[in-house]
Amino acid sequence: MRFEPLRYEHLRQMAEIEKEAFDMPWTENMFIPEVNSENATYIVGTRGEEVVCYGGFHSVLDEAHITNIAVKKSERGKGIGRFLLATLIGKARDKGAASISLEVKTTNVAAISLYESFGFKVVGVRKRYYNNLFDAYVMRRETEASARTDIR
Ligand SMILES: CC(C)(COP(=O)(O)OP(=O)(O)OC[C@H]1O[C@@H](n2cnc3c(N)ncnc32)[C@H](O)[C@@H]1OP(=O)(O)O)[C@@H](O)C(=O)NCCC(=O)NCCS
Repeated sequence: MRFEPLRYEHLRQMAEIEKEAFDMPWTENMFIPEVNSENATYIVGTRGEEVVCYGGFHSVLDEAHITNIAVKKSERGKGIGRFLLATLIGKARDKGAASISLEVKTTNVAAISLYESFGFKVVGVRKRYYNNLFDAYVMRRETEASARTDIR
């Protein structure tokens, strides 16, 4: 697998992965402004023409805020999410972010466990953040802390 910057050609497959990953998936159109945005950094993991995973963040002052992170369902549980997150944190640090934050559905055990293993801590709760129904944790960590990156 190789990581590459976000391109329009990735968006159709990313929208498919969004559908299998989220209750409120981003559509292809929602990703379009991200491709050339100065504040957005995305990485897409590909194998040939196949999109396997992607993740991105927005930079605001000295903070990075993760917008999306997802691994194709058939590819989960292999350490790809861990590698993706480590790469995003490294890129955020390179871009001058001191901390990195995200929202995650309070019931998303897999993602919360991943973030906790990287030292993210819950710093707040946004009530009814998803579909005006489900709560989200706000999680944050410094970009300098160390992280495991082993791919199984
Ligand atoms: C969350 C997600 C990105 C993890 O990707 P992945 O490639 O499957 O994760 P990895 O194989 O790298 O696992 C890394 C860690 O995540 C956690 N994890 C992954 N799958 C898990 C599961 N089914 N149950 C509990 N924890 C899990 C574990 O802490 C795991 O570390 P460990 O294997 O040492 O225990 C993936 O499940 C996904 O795309 N989910 C749908 C989209 C999503 O929820 N994104 C996060 C939005 S905030």
